[in-house]
Amino acid sequence: MAKSFKPVSLLVTGGAGFIGANFIHHVLQGNPGCRVINLDLLTYAGNLENLKGIEADPRYEFVKGDICDAELIAAILYREEIDAVVHFAAESHVDRSITGPEVFVRTNVLGTQVLLEECRKRWVSGSVADFRFLQVSTDEVYGSLGSSGLFTESTPLAANSPYSASKAGADLLVRAYHETYGFPALNTRCSNNYGPYQFPEKLIPLMIHNIIAQKPLPVYGDGLNVRDWLHVKDHSRAVEAVLKNGLPGGVYNVGGNNEWRNIDIVNLVCDILDKKLGRALGSSRKLITFVKDRPGHDRRYAIDASKMRKELGWEPSYTFEKGIDETIDWYLDNQEWVREVTSGAYRDYYENMYGER
Ligand code: NAD
Ligand code: DAU
Repeated sequence: MAKSFKPVSLLVTGGAGFIGANFIHHVLQGNPGCRVINLDLLTYAGNLENLKGIEADPRYEFVKGDICDAELIAAILYREEIDAVVHFAAESHVDRSITGPEVFVRTNVLGTQVLLEECRKRWVSGSVADFRFLQVSTDEVYGSLGSSGLFTESTPLAANSPYSASKAGADLLVRAYHETYGFPALNTRCSNNYGPYQFPEKLIPLMIHNIIAQKPLPVYGDGLNVRDWLHVKDHSRAVEAVLKNGLPGGVYNVGGNNEWRNIDIVNLVCDILDKKLGRALGSSRKLITFVKDRPGHDRRYAIDASKMRKELGWEPSYTFEKGIDETIDWYLDNQEWVREVTSGAYRDYYENMYGER
């Protein structure tokens, strides 16, 4: 393996969101020589509470701002002597992309291009010895699988939702910046994450939240769509491994080898919570409500992560049993956080989706 890249001044975009915040906690814990600058617009999905406990760390700085703002990006890159960017900032929810695709193109495509361009200028200026740009992307860019097979890094892109199309557009720009300019960019494509700080519009935290509140549990279509679940801490470890040891220009698939049908996950979460809350086993399952399917709903995602294992020695450390149990405990212990992020704009969105129940 070639010499490891060691970031000294790392710009994380979208670090107040679910995965970005978990990643910042992870980096600051394991890399004493690294500073982290977190650039986040604090949209409905960004919450500084996710970074509680690290604001006092002198190696951490928060900047509120937009990745589409070229002047701001350039100023941060030079002022903070940034030598690496891990790019999480995005609009990330498929359902929202169906009802309002414009902001997905603006943030995910244009925002990525602005970042790439400002980083490329810094890299060619010669003012930094070495540089890395890591685009954090998704398995959804590959489209949908039938009942067998896995996405590999050479599976053709076939995005089906405005969200995944905007991520695919960004991934192609990352590829183009490497091919055209030799810019040292890398691309990860990960399966569904779960864990602490996930905004409760996504399947697992939404189900936990509604079970606790004894509200209906909306399962789309027949509930037989399949997702491959990975603990967010394992995703953070994967991103760090690619940043430090990945080959510029490379694409790396990240997944949990952990496929679940939606209905099975929902049943599992119901049963775990019945036990933890002292409710009769089976009572939460009664809240399950099959609702109209998501348009263009991808049937199955499953990742072949063998390149990560063979080239970078990465593999998931969490069993799903342990990960889901800890995650449910986290949401039970952090109901104040849930109340805070589900007030205001979220409540409007949710009621608009399903009506007040
Ligand atoms: P999230 O929605 O929880 O967080 C996104 C963050 O980006 C928020 O803090 C938000 O304020 C910020 N943001 C949005 N627009 C911005 C802008 N214009 N400028 C600056 N900041 C902005 O998302 P997440 O689930 O943490 O996902 C993070 C990244 O990982 C995304 O790029 C997503 O595509 C990718 N990804 C997510 C998953 C998953 O399961 N959640 C899986 C694979 C890949
Ligand atoms: O695969 C990676 C992707 O995983 C990421 O790129 C996305 O940012 C992330 O949001 C996630 O996308 P999904 O669409 O797979 O996640 P979501 O949690 O929205 O839905 C998971 C599955 O559960 C999907 O098949 C739709 C279904 N679902 C979801 C919700 C919110 C329901 O049945 N009911 C629901 O209420």
